[in-house]
Amino acid sequence: MPVRTIIEPFRIKSVEPIRWTTREARERLLQAAHYNLFLLAADDVLIDLLTDSGTGAMSIYQWGAIQEGDESYAGSRSYTRFKNSVQDIFGYRHVIPTHQGRAAERILFSTMLKKGDVVPNNTHFDTTRANVEATGAEALDLVIEEGKQPGLIHPFKGNMNVAALEAAIQRVGREHIPLVMLTITNNSGGGQPVSMENARQVSELCHRHGIPLYFDACRFAENSWFIKLREPGYADKTPKQIAQEMFALGDGCTMSAKKDGMANIGGFLCTNDDHLAQQEKNLLILTEGYPTYGGLAGRDLEAIAVGLQEAVAEDYLRYRIASTAYLGNHLAEQGIPIVLPPGGHAVYLDARAFVPHIPLEQFPGVALAAELYLEGGIRSVEIGTLMFDKAAKMDLVRLAIPRRTYTQSHIDYVIEVITEVWHKREQIRGLKLTYEPPFLRHFTAQLEQV
Ligand code: F0G
Repeated sequence: MPVRTIIEPFRIKSVEPIRWTTREARERLLQAAHYNLFLLAADDVLIDLLTDSGTGAMSIYQWGAIQEGDESYAGSRSYTRFKNSVQDIFGYRHVIPTHQGRAAERILFSTMLKKGDVVPNNTHFDTTRANVEATGAEALDLVIEEGKQPGLIHPFKGNMNVAALEAAIQRVGREHIPLVMLTITNNSGGGQPVSMENARQVSELCHRHGIPLYFDACRFAENSWFIKLREPGYADKTPKQIAQEMFALGDGCTMSAKKDGMANIGGFLCTNDDHLAQQEKNLLILTEGYPTYGGLAGRDLEAIAVGLQEAVAEDYLRYRIASTAYLGNHLAEQGIPIVLPPGGHAVYLDARAFVPHIPLEQFPGVALAAELYLEGGIRSVEIGTLMFDKAAKMDLVRLAIPRRTYTQSHIDYVIEVITEVWHKREQIRGLKLTYEPPFLRHFTAQLEQV
């Protein structure tokens, strides 16, 4: 009989100790952090599921490549390696390195958008929305209806509502839609994938109207794996072939290499448009750096060049998606409300269903996240009313899994803590704001219990 257990496809040769705290200490620390988990010191967190961004472990091959980093200001060998690796998968003509994803977003949007424009997306992530809005344009979320119902199972809940996109183009007018975006996987919507068929339909619609399509590609490898598992006709293709096919449907992308680039920092912006690339490079020089390093060290470019190829490896993706599903399925089995099916990089608790006694204006997701920290030192993040205010369609608590970082027993501990909190959920109290910054308020907001 073939062995069915999926194991971590690596062994660990360097460890980072984690630190226990008492519940009493955590109560004090949480109050000092104004109930905002972003304001905690990471050393006071036991299991850090705040984000999968830049928090993963690098491989020996990445560390080896880092030693070969060429730190030349212009024309570095590391840039050539980086560009070749990116083009191998993404296929776009211009590859512009940036220090992380949001820098790529800012450069793309400030070259393409003006006040009054509209950018449709399946769901904008927080920095993407903020960067669109910073230009005076509107960020329009058009995910399919199934994608807004946490408990509903659908293989591609990240899909764009194509009819709604068509209606938006008619209503707003093509001249006010400089680009359409597709976020793969859809982070704010539960880490849910977009199917190739949906991407093809969106691409055809955009190109019929002469609108360029850009991918927010942070988790493209995980999206490709879901297509391989769930979409007819893709079982025998490699994740890389699937990614190549998807990117060929678009005109460019923004990318945070802190996710499926398997690196601790970095990102890039791609386009096939020569004129736009020139403008983008000029802006890059102004704030990020020369176009062959874009605010990164040569060694960072090396880590990304290797990391992108590791992210599309089948044994890695099989383990990655299985380990996220392990957490999600164990929670769901106990009736704990999560976004179903589990996403690629994270499991999302449905806070509106978990703590229905807390009204939305008292931030149910933030209150639940605070309780997970108090109970077991786990740090998660709210994706809901604090993050998006009234644009929030759901109040979710995201448990993001850093890549190649935690073992199954860490995850068993997380399951145990969340189960404890589930049993005493009625005692969780809502929160109110005591300080709120003008944008991206969730990062620095301060709250207290009502
Ligand atoms: N787009 C998506 C879909 C993202 O998830 C992120 C970052 C970005 C763009 C911006 O990239 O952080 O490199 O500037 N998401 C992280 C998260 C922060 O926790 O989900 P960045």
